Amino acid sequence: MDVEQLLANNRYWAESLRARDPDFFARLARQQRPEFLWIGCSDSRVPANEVVGLMPGELFVHRNVANMVVATDMNFLSVLQYAVDVLQVRQVIVCGHYGCGGVRAALGHEELGLIDNWLRALKALYHQNLQRFEGLDAEQQVNLLCELNVQRQVRNVCHTTIVQNAWRRGHRLAVHGWIYGLSDGLVKDLQVTVDDAAQLDATFLYDQ
Ligand code: CO
Repeated sequence: MDVEQLLANNRYWAESLRARDPDFFARLARQQRPEFLWIGCSDSRVPANEVVGLMPGELFVHRNVANMVVATDMNFLSVLQYAVDVLQVRQVIVCGHYGCGGVRAALGHEELGLIDNWLRALKALYHQNLQRFEGLDAEQQVNLLCELNVQRQVRNVCHTTIVQNAWRRGHRLAVHGWIYGLSDGLVKDLQVTVDDAAQLDATFLYDQ
């Protein structure tokens, strides 16, 4: 497939949407009002809108390799701040996926290049939870680290002053941890939702 095909696909897609709803694009062009922020992996098999059945305009999206939340990542922080403070989203979803290549790489020892530095936090997470990996086969290890990573990134979102200040202002905001199965297309809620600073470890709380 070449890129010309993509442009043809696009024309077909836009025409089909307009046929169903003539005002669709005009309405969206005036304003976006998404209720959700999605933080997911760049993996091509986890297209954010599709897997949760949302249309353009309904999901604000940030994706990177292994759905990492890094406190010094200006790109991520800008997305989060805009989503929370300006768009006023009330639901933040960190969605990892089983079989994540980034997580798999972090469990291995092959030098892949710059990406090794991005994934180093996953090695630290594995190291902190070594006992939980005992007795697991390679695939189970990858999937456990995928889950632990989602839980960690949910916490990392909540440790930002962006989220803590929003809560302090009375902005109701919940941060969810989900994981997607490449083999069945299903999302599982890991039940690690945080919607209040009281659920966080005091070490990570900021006074004001
Ligand atoms: Co991935």
